Amino acid sequence: MIEIGSGPEAIDLGAERLKLGKLVAFPTETVYGLGADALNADAVARVFELKGRPASNPLIVHVPDIDMAQRVVGEWSHDAQRAAEKLWPGPVTLVLPKSSCVPGIVCAQGDTVAVRCPEHPCALALIEAFGSPIVGPSANPSGRISPTTPEHVVDGFTTRPHNTDLEIDPEIDLLVIDGGHCRSGLESTVVDLTGERAKVLRVGVVGAETISQALGHDVDCITQSDSKSSPESDIARSPGHVGAHYQPTKPTRLVQSGQLKQAKKQTVLISWSIDTHPDAGGLIQLPRDIEGFGAGLYRSMHEADKLIGDSIWIEIPNHEDISAEHRPIYETVMERLGRATHA
Ligand code: TXA
Ligand code: MG
Repeated sequence: MIEIGSGPEAIDLGAERLKLGKLVAFPTETVYGLGADALNADAVARVFELKGRPASNPLIVHVPDIDMAQRVVGEWSHDAQRAAEKLWPGPVTLVLPKSSCVPGIVCAQGDTVAVRCPEHPCALALIEAFGSPIVGPSANPSGRISPTTPEHVVDGFTTRPHNTDLEIDPEIDLLVIDGGHCRSGLESTVVDLTGERAKVLRVGVVGAETISQALGHDVDCITQSDSKSSPESDIARSPGHVGAHYQPTKPTRLVQSGQLKQAKKQTVLISWSIDTHPDAGGLIQLPRDIEGFGAGLYRSMHEADKLIGDSIWIEIPNHEDISAEHRPIYETVMERLGRATHA
């Protein structure tokens, strides 16, 4: 059964469930996470099973503060301290050497662990009430669109998209804590601090420049072509970020503003520039500003997937007058769109 709860009772119930090795989906400022006791290998195995996630793709461990982060990290470096002090709580995940208390399954049997202190009050309250770190991959079946509302989480695990062979678990046992729509709507920046130079493995709304300022030195950035196609080196270090991802079930493509008028009735449009579909089909509008576009993007893709139609066209976001401050959001949106689109 899936239950949605809110308020302090849901937090208490969530903490009780975590102690029993059960799953609790929780809101963060980025997307909803699928939580379980990070130090309980059986509980973590349930997360992999429900998501249909390959065992080779490690999970992020969520903590409420630096003290708890230090419990799951083997060697807490100066860089870790600087990044955590300046960027937490917030949408930045740090990859560091793992401590022996973290079960191998969390880290895909590797020697590093990804840690993040989220900013959402419900997430912090849940981890604090539980008193121990929790894993939190995005609360969606592997490969699909990340959830930004509690309803997306429920839908993801209870409805079988018509053109997939995704198995629905009839015995599902999940509490979803309702914290409203996620504010930023795009997953955290993942930064590897284990190498000689810090390296961004997954882009996010906190850009490389901000991370480099926090650390006091330069940061490398995995290139899109690296992370899309190369099977080598760094890719193996952030395996969840390789190739297709974040995909609606309908064929989805990116289009220029000028192409929208060619849409047929069966084409569902996601657009920031028009307010009526040229052929009276489905239309979902997104804000013109990139912050609003990024925050609403996943919700619009979830909605478009439910509308009548045989394909989805997403209008390339407005990229005029983007300030330096908003540049990382634009880059993140474009990177996610690149993975979401397929034939
Ligand atoms: O914003 C977020 O990060 C959300 C919220 C719920 O916190 N979580 C999230 O988790 O996006 P997930 O599992 O969907 O994505 C985690 C990414 C994957 O690409 C995974 O491969 C990478 O982080 N990752 C996890 N542990 C890692 C490690 N030890 N080394 C390198 N990459 C790692
Ligand atoms: Mg994910």
